[in-house]
Amino acid sequence: MIEKPAILGGEPTAKEQIPLYCICTGEEEKEAIMDAFNKKAFASGEFIKKLEDEFARFIGTKHALAVSNGTDGLFLAYLAYGLTFGKKIITTPLTFVATASTIVHTGAIPVFCDVELDGNISPMKIQELVKSENIDGISIVHLYGKPVEMKPIMELAKENNIVVIEDASHAHGAEYNGKKVGSIGNIGVFSLYPSKVIAAGGWGGLITTNDDEIAEKIILLRGHGELKNIIGKKGAYKFRILGYNFRMNNMEAAVAYYQLKKIDSFIEKRRKNAKLLSELLRDVPGITIPEEKPHIKHIFYLYAIVLDDKITGWSRDEFVEALNAEGIEAQPGYVVPLHKQEVFLKLNDPNVNHFAKINKYPDYSKMRFPNAEYLSNHTIWLPTHPCLKEEDVENIAKAIKKLISWKKNR
Ligand SMILES: Cc1ncc(COP(=O)(O)O)c(C=O)c1O
Repeated sequence: MIEKPAILGGEPTAKEQIPLYCICTGEEEKEAIMDAFNKKAFASGEFIKKLEDEFARFIGTKHALAVSNGTDGLFLAYLAYGLTFGKKIITTPLTFVATASTIVHTGAIPVFCDVELDGNISPMKIQELVKSENIDGISIVHLYGKPVEMKPIMELAKENNIVVIEDASHAHGAEYNGKKVGSIGNIGVFSLYPSKVIAAGGWGGLITTNDDEIAEKIILLRGHGELKNIIGKKGAYKFRILGYNFRMNNMEAAVAYYQLKKIDSFIEKRRKNAKLLSELLRDVPGITIPEEKPHIKHIFYLYAIVLDDKITGWSRDEFVEALNAEGIEAQPGYVVPLHKQEVFLKLNDPNVNHFAKINKYPDYSKMRFPNAEYLSNHTIWLPTHPCLKEEDVENIAKAIKKLISWKKNR
């Protein structure tokens, strides 16, 4: 018998709503916060250094630097490499706004580049852009936790003296050719926003690099340019460079430090959930599931499927609504690519962007990125977080199959 979708009055597949994100915390995080609280170590404190040391070890870089959030981390990364006035940075239009808005904030110019059908930026399209324009930086995003094809990008960057920034906000622990992302480009940036693979006790971000000079610059930039940050007490109230207050606080770091201790098990669970979901969805017509290649390790921050409306008879947005009614919290993925976002269409207006007085931005409205545009209309994000039980994963697949069968039989 074909089951009636819950959105049309049928029984929901899951008895309780399965959330898209989940913050998996335990007693350790609570105790760490209480410890910092009892010591009144709110702003600075031991957990920041502990987190940085442990994260650098985990990623395999010389330095990991804690910052206020991933957005500020990206801003500092571009700034530290001098990617400022009029410099051109290639990036993807299929990402969270911060990857590209921070390029604008430093005074640089985003050069959007289309993606592959898995959502990651296309190395071939990057190559075409580097041939046709003077490019200073490439800012890639390991989308949903799947590493970008880094080898051709790094080769191209080396040949052309281009800085590579890895926005690894979705990809803590993801690997490319056995190396953790965030250790492949010149610099990596991670977000510790609560929904992410690991959370800080508030906002949070981490910057990774092997470059001592850049690390020192970031340490100064994030803390008012004050020498105290690099030479201790003698540098107090002595300001070397124009800096910001983009530091992570000790309470945030306390949670992140204990989250980091559990990261391997979080990733294992995410991969296990994704594997089961893929087994259950592989043969469903009209659904493209994420694929992994032998040289990459996808950590499935999100499990993104692509829905073919012609085959399934469902529009993406209707399908998401119907899934929500089934008790599955799904979400449409990056519904408007950045080159079509109002803010990027107005970059030449000095009332919107004060750099418009010195920079001339491309007319993004004339640009077409067919893959990014297709994906923004057809992608659905599904949960894979470590709090899911096997039954939840089975229910996600069951709900999808139920909705597809319903339309097929109309
Ligand atoms: C791809 C990407 N880059 C950057 C960020 C910004 O991180 P944060 O929220 O920590 O500022 C996010 C956050 O969602 C993101 O998804």
